[in-house]
Amino acid sequence: MFRSESILLAIETTCDETAAAVISSNSISGHIKILASVVASQDDLHRRFGGVVPEIASRAHVERILPVLDEALHQAGIALDDLDAVAVATSPGLAGSLLVGLVAAKTLCVTHNLPLVAVDHLHAHLYACRMAAGEEIFPCVGLVVSGGHSHLFRCKTPTDFELLGGTIDDAAGEAFDKVAALLGLPYPGGPAIAKAAEQGDRTKYAFPRPLLHDATRIAFSFSGLKTAVRYLLEKWRPEPVPSESGSQQTPRLDEHPGEQHVQFPSQVIADVAASFESAVIDCLVGKAELALARTGLTTLCVGGGVAANQWLREQLAAKAESHGFRLLLAPMPLCTDNAAMGAIAMERLKAGLVEPLDLDIRPGLVR
Ligand code: KG4
Ligand code: ZN
Repeated sequence: MFRSESILLAIETTCDETAAAVISSNSISGHIKILASVVASQDDLHRRFGGVVPEIASRAHVERILPVLDEALHQAGIALDDLDAVAVATSPGLAGSLLVGLVAAKTLCVTHNLPLVAVDHLHAHLYACRMAAGEEIFPCVGLVVSGGHSHLFRCKTPTDFELLGGTIDDAAGEAFDKVAALLGLPYPGGPAIAKAAEQGDRTKYAFPRPLLHDATRIAFSFSGLKTAVRYLLEKWRPEPVPSESGSQQTPRLDEHPGEQHVQFPSQVIADVAASFESAVIDCLVGKAELALARTGLTTLCVGGGVAANQWLREQLAAKAESHGFRLLLAPMPLCTDNAAMGAIAMERLKAGLVEPLDLDIRPGLVR
């Protein structure tokens, strides 16, 4: 019997969110609808370490994957027999985390005789912009900024992405997380820094903008910026204090919350947060403009956890206005990791791009 609707179950376990979504697509109009999107965050498990601990993440995925799948199907009112395909993010990400999602997806495909579709997590972050736009966005430049990645792509079609360049060390989100830890702010650091920055002076500290003025390279570098913040904060490190045993204890500036660290005055935190945030965002905006100029494309898509940053969104909107390019930002609920953006798999399915059941994960970036 001909059905005008295709229904897809998408699974996402690349890092520390266990997520599943049920998505329908109308084969005539192409209209995509999210029937359910469930995300089980692991932030609470990783907070005290100031970052994601891979082994904890993969074990938590094992515990959560089945309840999350059940919940997504329940919310959508869909039975496994109603599905037309299963999609899973297979790259890039943490190996142990990716494997949990892939094993779940393969099992459903084998037991219900369904096609398996592979999703690239970074391309999916950009596809969130296509979902929000409700109209064609390709070809365009895509900027993915997340905890693990800061990369620019030439997005030719929904199934053809070319990497233009990316970070040579830390990702933008990782820099937010590390600087937040130095300031004694909670994990994840991005939202905490953004909030502190609201009360701060963006010009108070002249942090470096690495590679920003090198027009020959589409690349980012954020690790030196983090070190500049660390050196600045050393100024507030108090003198060593003798402990009861007589040894000297120096309060530490530490990227590992939970250990003893220095309490900074709240205005220092706000000014450092604002100056740091501005430095990162200037680099992201500058290199996105360079990618537009190099490719001659006139549409910029931006996705990933850091795309939720309000200062980034405002700076990009101002540039789009003054430079006349079309800006498509991922909607806030689809910025951080989720499975709904796995709707990109519908495009692959349409193009006949299904995978054999011996499909493997690809933890590194696929070029
Ligand atoms: O895309 P995502 O959920 O996970 C990865 O694929 O890495 O991104 C998480 C990252 C974290 O580093 C977090 O600090 C950052 O996104 N983030 C933000 C904001 N919200 C989340 N960074 C800056 N400003 C925000 N508002
Ligand atoms: Zn992500």
